[in-house]
Amino acid sequence: MPISEAEVATLQQRASEAARNSYSPYSHFRVGAAVLLQDGAIVAGTNVENASYRLTCCAEQAAIAAAVTLYGPRIRIRAIAIANLNGADCMPCGACRQTILEFSTPETAVFYPNEFGETVSTTLAALLPDAFRLIP
Ligand code: THU
Repeated sequence: MPISEAEVATLQQRASEAARNSYSPYSHFRVGAAVLLQDGAIVAGTNVENASYRLTCCAEQAAIAAAVTLYGPRIRIRAIAIANLNGADCMPCGACRQTILEFSTPETAVFYPNEFGETVSTTLAALLPDAFRLIP
């Protein structure tokens, strides 16, 4: 079932709200992500940086960890929206694509802003073709 415009708007709103809590003293890049689960629940997360830069947690990974914490290991992601408060384009990084995949199908919808502030609507399969998997 396609995601409605209202659902996308809600997801983006939740992602933006989460970004307000971003802990990003190093990059000052305030990111939020919100996942829409198959049962309709929405869970958001934000990026949490670290002085040891590579320990930074991306917003998408924070949202997914929160969703698993709240709803358990069987969660399935129907859609994910990413937002930032910097007015920048903001597609999920490679590591986040792999993290999203773990709980998604190839059709899982991904929404992110492009450099013109427009919403890009795509799928996980388009963003991460030929992905690595252990569990079929
Ligand atoms: N970041 C995310 O939260 N998600 C991504 O997909 C890419 C990057 C964060 C990590 C870091 O805090 C900041 O953006 C700059 O890289």
